[in-house]
Amino acid sequence: MRFVDIIEKKKEKASLTKEELHFFIDGYVKGTIPDYQVSALLMAIYFNGMDAQETACLCEEMLYSGDVMDLSAISGVKCDKHSTGGVGDKTSLSLAPMVAACGAKVAKMSGRGLGHTGGTLDKAESIEGFRVDLNEQEFLEQVNTIGLAIIGQTQRLVPADKKLYALRDVTATVNSIPLIASSIMSKKLAAGSDTILLDVKYGEGAFMETAQKAEELAETMIAIGKHFHKDVRAMISSMNQPLGNAIGNALEVKEAIATLKGEGPQDFTELCLKAGSIMLQQAHLANSESQARAMLMEVIKNGKAFEKLIAMVQAQGGNVEQIKHPETLPKAKAIFEVKALCDGYVKELHALQLGTLAMQLGAGRMVKEDRIDPSVGIVLNKKDGDYVQTGDVLAYVHSNHPLAKQWLQDFYDAYTFSAVPQAKQSLIHKVLG
Ligand code: URA
Repeated sequence: MRFVDIIEKKKEKASLTKEELHFFIDGYVKGTIPDYQVSALLMAIYFNGMDAQETACLCEEMLYSGDVMDLSAISGVKCDKHSTGGVGDKTSLSLAPMVAACGAKVAKMSGRGLGHTGGTLDKAESIEGFRVDLNEQEFLEQVNTIGLAIIGQTQRLVPADKKLYALRDVTATVNSIPLIASSIMSKKLAAGSDTILLDVKYGEGAFMETAQKAEELAETMIAIGKHFHKDVRAMISSMNQPLGNAIGNALEVKEAIATLKGEGPQDFTELCLKAGSIMLQQAHLANSESQARAMLMEVIKNGKAFEKLIAMVQAQGGNVEQIKHPETLPKAKAIFEVKALCDGYVKELHALQLGTLAMQLGAGRMVKEDRIDPSVGIVLNKKDGDYVQTGDVLAYVHSNHPLAKQWLQDFYDAYTFSAVPQAKQSLIHKVLG
């Protein structure tokens, strides 16, 4: 087989066979096929797509390019959840303890943030001493005993994705549905859970700009799930504005804690309840959405969800006092109030811009090697639909440096106002699967 023929075939819009996809992934991981040829194939896939069978085969080849976790030592149904990423998305930190408190087992492997999107591992590491590098045995034991663990992916999991993602990043081929679907699903399947809930985000702060494109991506991933006989469901949710109020690592941990105590922002709480109710049904711990919601509300009310977070932080070596007293989490030197310059109803709140501004404060990375400052970020005080008067605080900016003039200008540009009342945008567009 010659790789040039495979490129030629995809260039002519034909479907690749399992053998050809094996030759591709195996050769690329072993280093016998060079980046320049793989770049050409990726671009051909970007333009000409892949059918469902091809996408599932690509995912399978990627999945078996490395280790696959065996979670059979954990009793019960193992539930996983994945978000395609966004601004202010601290869902795993609240959702995993909530569903674990209801009896689900959550063996979660999370990622780090890059660009305007944050990553769960960076957020969790705002907690002093919190270890995300548990070994396999520690991970399995912890999930078995307390019901949840959040760790980073091991290097041996899906090496094909590590190489391919880095290449896609520099060849303008990230935004392709079959490539995103096989990348995400190969990692989720390698993580070994029985069920997967996908939170596929759309909007300007997300990979998919429209709800329709997000649905297409979700359907592709659900089809891959069927190929592997896994219960995969998806929520299509908006990332047109940040999720919740807090953007930035320690600030998001604080908001996740508040949410576990029933004191979180309404939109973020609703997303957790919706996601949690799907996960509990997937785990056969509830028969209906209303039953699952009642279970989740109960563990929030009786403190069991919060206790699960404490148990997880303790088990992973984190400073539990910071969870019990969130005011002791890392704090920036100053909190600046950014005040409204006009009256009106908030019409839009640009997530991408706000995520980028938080990154510039030090809450995110521009390049992989950048260090995160856990203390900094933005806490929004006004979101879509809110009425604002001149001088009202739009947001509290936690920073270790004075705010530059351009930064402030960009912050104001992230908001648009209207003289007429604006309805709040709906957060969850659809559930699929
Ligand atoms: N997240 C992933 O893990 N892979 C992609 O290709 C895009 C988003």
